[in-house]
Amino acid sequence: MPSNLDLLDILPQSLGVQGPLMSVVKLPSELVIEGLLSLVQAQEPILDPTYGNGTFWKGTKRKVVGGDCDPTRAKDIVLDFTALPFTDGQFPTVVFDPPFHPDVNSRESVRFKHMGSDEKQMQAQFRAGVAECWRVCSHILIVKCQGFIHNHRPQWMPLWAIDVCGEPFEWLVVMRDQKVISGRWTSCNSLRRNHADYLVFNRGGNHR
Ligand SMILES: C[S@@+](CC[C@H](N)C(=O)[O-])C[C@H]1O[C@@H](n2cnc3c(N)ncnc32)[C@H](O)[C@@H]1O
Repeated sequence: MPSNLDLLDILPQSLGVQGPLMSVVKLPSELVIEGLLSLVQAQEPILDPTYGNGTFWKGTKRKVVGGDCDPTRAKDIVLDFTALPFTDGQFPTVVFDPPFHPDVNSRESVRFKHMGSDEKQMQAQFRAGVAECWRVCSHILIVKCQGFIHNHRPQWMPLWAIDVCGEPFEWLVVMRDQKVISGRWTSCNSLRRNHADYLVFNRGGNHR
């Protein structure tokens, strides 16, 4: 957790604290999400079609429609993010946080089983999900992208999201202390990923 002093520097006014949100932060995801939603004055209801454990919404008072393909994780509705059961532009705000890895029979296989069995299938699922989220969004879409190396190639999720939605309105880098250790590789010639990218897309354009 950041110290109170860090929070004073970082959190937006809507959290009751003065100060701008910086472009690189080390904050828990619920504060990252609240910071971005405040920055863009996000309207509600907010669709979260990958609700998971609901970590993004810890302590929130916002009206969130939580969906997931896993019935034990779907707060309001069981759905598939590649075919969302909503009309075009139905939600003013959508927040998307898909699994970031294909299923390779690892111990995380349950989490990743819907993303296909290799990086090509995983990318196709990711793109289909971003396209659906963009379709049902009338104003703001936030996509959390987790970079990683798979099959000796970097998987540039932010670029795939930009390919679908166009230039982002904002791009927030969130650092974390530890990389997820794969266990198989003790050395590799790539940068160790210690961050996630949160991209904000705005149907109203990039003017501010
Ligand atoms: C990275 S987790 C989301 C974590 C969440 N943001 C939180 O704060 O706990 C991804 C979620 O997407 C769900 N998921 C995977 N494939 C899906 C699909 N095709 N449609 C809907 N949900 C899916 C998984 O069940 C998992 O709960």
